[in-house]
Order: sequence, then C-alpha cells, then structure tokens
Amino acid sequence: MVKRVQVGWAAGLLALCIFQPTLAESAKTRAPVDLSARLLQAQADPKLEQALLTTGRKVAAVCANCHGEGGNSVKPDIPNLAGQNPAYLLEQVRQFADGRRRDMFMEGMIRAMNSDEKVGMVLFYTSQQVVHTPLANAALAAKGQEYFNKVCFRCHGTDGRGSAQFPRIAGQQINYLTQTLKRYRSGGGTRADSVMVTHAKSMTDADIQAVVAFVSSMQ
Ligand code: HEC
Ligand code: HEC
Repeated sequence: MVKRVQVGWAAGLLALCIFQPTLAESAKTRAPVDLSARLLQAQADPKLEQALLTTGRKVAAVCANCHGEGGNSVKPDIPNLAGQNPAYLLEQVRQFADGRRRDMFMEGMIRAMNSDEKVGMVLFYTSQQVVHTPLANAALAAKGQEYFNKVCFRCHGTDGRGSAQFPRIAGQQINYLTQTLKRYRSGGGTRADSVMVTHAKSMTDADIQAVVAFVSSMQ
C-alpha cells in the first residue's frame, strides 16, 4: 500500500514536469470538454486531425517508457495501446480521471493531460499496428479458443478486435490480461465494469489461463 502511494506521488510529480506548459494553458480554459465530441470533430476535419495527431505523437513519447514504441508494450504487466479502439481508450481516460478505475500512476498521468493531448494520443495509438506475439502453448490455447468461442466473441468479436463499443483484446500482454480478468472477478473495485465482472465471476483460474493463452496469440 505504502509503495503504491509513493508511486502515485512520483507519477504526479513526473506528470507535472512533463505537462507543465500545457497545464497552465488548460487552467485558463477550465470548461470541461466533451472528449468524444472533440474526437468526432477531429475525424471530420483533416487539418485538426493532423494537428492533434502531432500532439498525440509528442505525448506518446512519454507513454513509450511503459507502453512501448507505438503502443506495443514489452512489459508483461503493461497493456499495449496500439490498435485499441478509440471509444474504449476515451472511456478508460474518463475512468482513471473519476476514480472508477484505480491505478495511482495512470490516474496522475491522465489528470495532468489537457483534452487535446488526450484526444491526440487516442488518434495516435488507434492508428498503430499491433506486433504479433507468437503462440507459446498450443494445447492450452486450443482450450482457451473453445471458451472464447462460447462467451467472449459475442462482444470482443470472433477476431478479438472488439468494435466501436468493446475493446480489442487480441494480442494483448499475457500478464496484463490475467491480472485484469482476476481484478474483474475479485470485485475489488480496481476494475468495476459490471458486464466484465459478471463474465469473470464464472471463470476458474484454469479458464483464465487458457483463454489468455489464446487471446494473447490472436493477431
Ligand atoms: C510508469 C509506467 C506508465 C507510463 C509512463 C504510462 N502508463 Fe498507461 N498504464 C500503465 C499501467 C501499469 C497500466 C495498467 C493499469 C492497470 O493494470 O489497470 C496502464 C494503463 C493505461 C491505459 C488503459 C489501457 C487498457 O487497455 O485498458 C491507458 C489508456 C493508458 N495507460 C494510457 C497512457 C498514456 C496516454 C500515457 C502517456 C501520457 C501512459 N499511459 C503512460 C503504466 C504507465
Ligand atoms: C457482453 C459483452 C462482453 C462479453 C461477453 C465479454 N466482454 Fe470483455 N469487456 C466488455 C466491456 C464492455 C469491456 C470494457 C470494460 C471496462 O471499461 O472496464 C470489456 C473489457 C475486457 C477486458 C479489459 C481490456 C483492457 O484492455 O483492459 C478484457 C481482458 C476482457 N474484456 C476479456 C474478456 C474475456 C476473456 C471474455 C470471455 C470470457 C469477455 N471479455 C467477455 C464486454 C464483454
């Protein structure tokens, strides 16, 4: 617990240093911005989209320390952001900002970003390709595929790439997937989405292990 608090403070400080110039700017214009509306506006206006993409690419240089170049993480506990769906990324930004999703570091990071930096990073990461992770255990993945094809495909798609409403999970990091499913299952509030809590509740550790082996190897 103490360690998490310290990490949180460090994150806040780091974020303050990184985003200092823009923080002053956003303080002047305090009115809350509808991030989804801003994203739609950018998608309909190529000039604005380019400008926000440039902002997003700059922001991503900071995120790359953990989420990897172009959002392909090389740290097993840290998720890929590459190829993720825009509505899901924006929803996670909101959840970190209002405390529905708990992670000290990410909460600090998101609080320090202005709205165009948030929308820009979404434009940047959604346009990046996921690097494929080779299959490690084919027998286990085959079991996981069965489970996936009974339950998970309904929302995450037969290819695991999700949709406008649901996140991509294909090719996600193994430890991150495992930890996330266990967090939903525990009902501890770190991840509290009621749909996923319900689905994770009926999974055994063996189900999680198998599904993760399959999902992480999807392209
Ligand atoms: C010190 C490492 C670190 C840095 C730097 C970092 N993140 Fe994260 N990020 C994490 C971790 C760890 C998680 C997973 C938290 C959890 O387990 O719920 C995460 C999760 C996320 C998620 C949720 C992804 C998902 O699949 O649900 C988003 C979005 C995100 N980060 C965006 C960013 C952005 C944008 C930046 C740069 C401004 C950034 N992160 C910088 C460590 C970091
Ligand atoms: C009825 C729709 C639905 C079904 C079925 C479903 N999911 Fe989800 N899943 C969601 C939604 C919605 C979210 C986003 C939740 C949030 O914001 O935390 C999500 C999020 C996730 C995440 C977190 C993604 C990330 O980047 O952090 C994982 C992992 C996941 N689902 C795996 C699964 C697996 C494995 C199954 C099958 C056992 C499954 N889901 C079945 C709707 C569904």
